[in-house]
Amino acid sequence: MRIRKAVIPVAGLGTRFLPASKAQPKEMLAVVDKPVIQYIVEEAVASGIEEIIFVTSLGKRAIEDHFDRNFELEYRLEQKKKTKELALVGRIGKLAKFAFVRQNKPMGDGHAILAALPFLDRHEPVAVLFGDDIIDSKVPAMKQLLDVYEKYQDPIVALQQVQKKDVSNYGVIGGRKLDATTWEVSKFVEKPSPAQAPSNNIVIGRYVLTPDMLAILEDQRAGKDGEIRLADAFATYLLGGRPIYGHLFEGTRYDCGNKLGFLKAQVELGLKHPEIGKDLKRYLKTMK
Ligand code: G1P
Repeated sequence: MRIRKAVIPVAGLGTRFLPASKAQPKEMLAVVDKPVIQYIVEEAVASGIEEIIFVTSLGKRAIEDHFDRNFELEYRLEQKKKTKELALVGRIGKLAKFAFVRQNKPMGDGHAILAALPFLDRHEPVAVLFGDDIIDSKVPAMKQLLDVYEKYQDPIVALQQVQKKDVSNYGVIGGRKLDATTWEVSKFVEKPSPAQAPSNNIVIGRYVLTPDMLAILEDQRAGKDGEIRLADAFATYLLGGRPIYGHLFEGTRYDCGNKLGFLKAQVELGLKHPEIGKDLKRYLKTMK
């Protein structure tokens, strides 16, 4: 079955970006000239996604406005004959069909995905993209996952290989390597110490969830911290003996959920930018 819908949870507070995220969503912070969230939406759309459900919270209205039309701005740009800018702005609202739903309590990423359930067809698998990671790749990262889904029809997670010492901020998988880029996952351990990690393959915020997986998530109880976590639902799913597949994606990931990752994205995507790339390179060379 072709996957047409994606859920993008964007309800988080963004405390790591205070004070920048005090009066605007952290997802709206720009990398070069585009908000982080637009990169993620463009990845989903380039992967064939047609409908996007954002799970938002108080203070995230700017995201809604960004993916809506802005008639006044478009009118003014037209008057000033700024055709390039007009095209740039006009296409954003047409990228996909957008829906917005509020997560009424901050109860974890699993709980956020459940808030989107009324907008999903219960027989359809769904793509999930977390709002922090920009992935720069030849084939859009979500498209890579959807291709793996087509083969196995089971839940899919995006994997990245890191050094063992760096695993503790992530979900880490264990299982069987099927080929250079595919793992059959039989273990999912959330934020283990390096010694307890079943491998050095970490899970990145890109997933394909099947109806069965969503049903497990619906029954998933809150953990000790009171949150319903997607990671716990994956672990529960695996207890049922069914596999999840992991895909080591091709591409560079920028974790824009932390300051250093965000700055790396600015520099590297700035260097690739057709307008400023060359000048930025020249400037960086002059730096000591
Ligand atoms: C979440 C997931 C974790 C995953 C990570 C990817 O953690 O629980 O399994 O590896 O996203 O960014 P969080 O970053 O929300 O703590």
